[in-house]
Amino acid sequence: MHKDCEYILLSEQEIKDIVKDMAKKISEDYKDKNLILIGLLKGSVLFMSDLMRELSIDCAIDFICASSYGSGTESSGRVNIVKDVSQPLDGKDVLIVEDIIDSGNTLNFITKYFAAKNAASVKICTMLSKPSRRVVEIPVDYVGREVPDEFVIGYGLDYAEKYRNLPYIGVLKPSVYS
Ligand code: IMP
Ligand code: MG
Repeated sequence: MHKDCEYILLSEQEIKDIVKDMAKKISEDYKDKNLILIGLLKGSVLFMSDLMRELSIDCAIDFICASSYGSGTESSGRVNIVKDVSQPLDGKDVLIVEDIIDSGNTLNFITKYFAAKNAASVKICTMLSKPSRRVVEIPVDYVGREVPDEFVIGYGLDYAEKYRNLPYIGVLKPSVYS
């Protein structure tokens, strides 16, 4: 375990099982649809690549980069698009792939943004959710695991751009950011 990690929340095996389960549900729900997975950069990359290879149906992929976080642990509430998707979304069934939902600000904005691009449907799939931190209520369609109000790292999740490459999800030692 990394020295900055307080404890492991989800092991590699637990993550694998969760992703497999979600992919099965998504493959059933989208079998007659025009699925495009859109990952939020950068946190979703590991989850996205694991999820897509477990799908048993056809899908397209794309990425969008929105910023709401600085290098701290609190959301700024302001969302702006740093990199947009690279294709029209008209008539497509968009499934947003996210690492973690905290305040809900980012996805509240992005969901409306994709709907305005005339997507046929827009749903949300997130590896983690911190319900106790929600500021904006948003419907989340697929959740890997609900987590307590602690700062988590690994499996794509960073603190100040570090720890994304850890293969497990752990809680960051508060001494690192306080
Ligand atoms: P929201 O807009 O407040 O829901 O923030 C969502 C984004 O904040 C996520 O995509 C993450 O990039 C980041 N974030 C929120 N909580 C954590 C955490 O515990 N660890 C790492 N990143 C987090
Ligand atoms: Mg993120």
